[in-house]
Amino acid sequence: MTDWDLMRTRHSVRQYLDLPLPPEALEELTALVGECNRAGGLHIQLVQNEEKAFSGLIARYGRFSGVRNYFALVGKKGPSLEEKCGYYGEKLVLRAQALGLNTCWVAGSYSRVPDAYEIADGEKLVAVIAVGIGAASGRPHRSKAPAAVSNVSDDSPEWFRRGVEAALLAPTAMNQQNFRFTFDGEKLRAEAGLGFYTKLDLGIVKYHFELGAGKGRVRWLFR
Ligand SMILES: Cc1cc2nc3c(=O)[nH]c(=O)nc-3n(C[C@H](O)[C@H](O)[C@H](O)COP(=O)(O)O)c2cc1C
Repeated sequence: MTDWDLMRTRHSVRQYLDLPLPPEALEELTALVGECNRAGGLHIQLVQNEEKAFSGLIARYGRFSGVRNYFALVGKKGPSLEEKCGYYGEKLVLRAQALGLNTCWVAGSYSRVPDAYEIADGEKLVAVIAVGIGAASGRPHRSKAPAAVSNVSDDSPEWFRRGVEAALLAPTAMNQQNFRFTFDGEKLRAEAGLGFYTKLDLGIVKYHFELGAGKGRVRWLFR
């Protein structure tokens, strides 16, 4: 599967089969969590066989069922924490997709289970990502047009157009797609709109943009 296949076939899945993660997938995801934590200075944890976070009213109201594994996106409080969690969280999401698993980003409709993961002093839990074997594979979301989220034009370079296209395939909170990419011929910018979870969304769409633009073409830096 190419990166494009992964981005195109990933959709949020809220209903899961009551099965543990396959051992090979678990091994690979655990290794990737370690890599992401080292690269981003984060404290992401893969929580397994924990059903409380998604068994409360709020999760059932959100139509979640069978969730027993999730990534807890934890990191040191700071100005770029949300964006970094978005970026590295989406890296985990697409790897899970490559391993035949399904996922759903969840910032609101879950319960906190403090003894299921570690949050050290000065750290914070930003969101979780449900992961497992989905009962179905989800459906494509409605999307804004490239021109609504960027300054793309007929003169834009191909890598910029492809980056924006990839960003529009990314999950965003409430499917708000409230971000903007601009390229003025020299400088590339990515900005979050105002609103809930837009910094988290920004990290997610930046990861997609990087993949869409082509390997090594764009590399975002986080402060
Ligand atoms: C940061 C973030 C937070 C989200 N929080 C929730 C949530 O609390 N509950 C929920 O059901 N879906 C949540 N979602 C999933 C979005 O609704 C979903 O990604 C969006 O509708 C686009 O659909 P897709 O992921 O299938 O492409 C969240 C997504 C993101 C990126």
